[in-house]
Amino acid sequence: MKATAKAHTNIALIKYWGKRNEPIILPTNSNLSLTLDGFSTVTTVHFQEELSSDEFFLNDRLVEDAASQRVTGFLDKVRAMAGKEMYARIHSLNHVPTAAGFASSASGFAALAAASTKAIGLELNDTELSILTRQGSGSACRSIYGGFVEWQMGEKEDGSDSYAVPIASKDHWDIRVAAVVLSATEKKVSSRDGMRRTVETSPFYDGWLKQTPKDLEEIKTAIHDKDFEKTGSIAEANCMRMHATTLGANPPFTYWQDTTMRVMQNVQQMREEGIPAYFTIDAGPNVKVLYLPKDESKVKQRLEQIMGVEDVIVSKPGKGISYL
Ligand code: ADP
Ligand code: DP6
Ligand code: CO
Repeated sequence: MKATAKAHTNIALIKYWGKRNEPIILPTNSNLSLTLDGFSTVTTVHFQEELSSDEFFLNDRLVEDAASQRVTGFLDKVRAMAGKEMYARIHSLNHVPTAAGFASSASGFAALAAASTKAIGLELNDTELSILTRQGSGSACRSIYGGFVEWQMGEKEDGSDSYAVPIASKDHWDIRVAAVVLSATEKKVSSRDGMRRTVETSPFYDGWLKQTPKDLEEIKTAIHDKDFEKTGSIAEANCMRMHATTLGANPPFTYWQDTTMRVMQNVQQMREEGIPAYFTIDAGPNVKVLYLPKDESKVKQRLEQIMGVEDVIVSKPGKGISYL
């Protein structure tokens, strides 16, 4: 009753930003991401009769805070599905900064879902696995698949039609993503709290809801056509709109830091100089820059020179979950 799985993070090109149902995680809008090969989580789950509670080790340290309750809560769903009551020891290694806006919850819960269901003997297809994974962390339901992935919001209130669908494989289009590391420390406002506060209090949220379905339809065509400028500019605009909603929240907040702005301005300047590059930012200060393989050395060099930048980590389109 032991299994190990690996999952990669993903970067949202059209953001998931708000829940219509919090307990089972149903989003307010469909959204789309690219799975990244540069960041991943490897998780081993071992169900054992002799354990009297779950034990969660993250990066070799026993975790006893809210993060461990989130894992136990998720395993309770897995146990209920399997009709078994055994507890588990979980060892997870994040090859990604935890809770810093690099989508550790995406690779983390995708790896946990894959390993735990395999270990307990559930045989789920990818859609069933995506539905389950969604309930650990919304963005994680997309990391089941590689390449370009849409999370279709669904209509049903039981969540049975809210899951990820691969829309273009990782080999469809080799675009690159540079993760510009400014701060790998934990964010003050988690994705979950940030989106809740925004949905509940930001008057800008209605504008977000109105525009995002249009962005999604347009970017799907652009990805299909491999139109880089269109893909990049839609992703960048969608990111700006998401972050604008947080400024209208009560109390207002932003995930950006001064260096975040500096990187954004450098990317826009690169474009003026003829290098096609676009940025997007998840719930954290760190910027992800989209570019084409031919521009890799120029883009990387340019980003590394910006004051306040600690590191630049380059990703190609990554693959979906695998069992080790
Ligand atoms: P991020 O930008 O890293 O996704 P979030 O605020 O969305 O930030 O989620 C961070 C939370 O995800 C952590 O506090 C923890 O609860 C959970 N998490 C991160 N890594 C793992 C992992 N490997 N296994 C299980 N849960 C994880
Ligand atoms: C800004 O999936 O981390 O990165 O469902 O509460 O776990 P929970 O939140 P999470 O939110 C991700 C928000 C985002 C956009 C995105 O990845 O689509
Ligand atoms: Co997250």
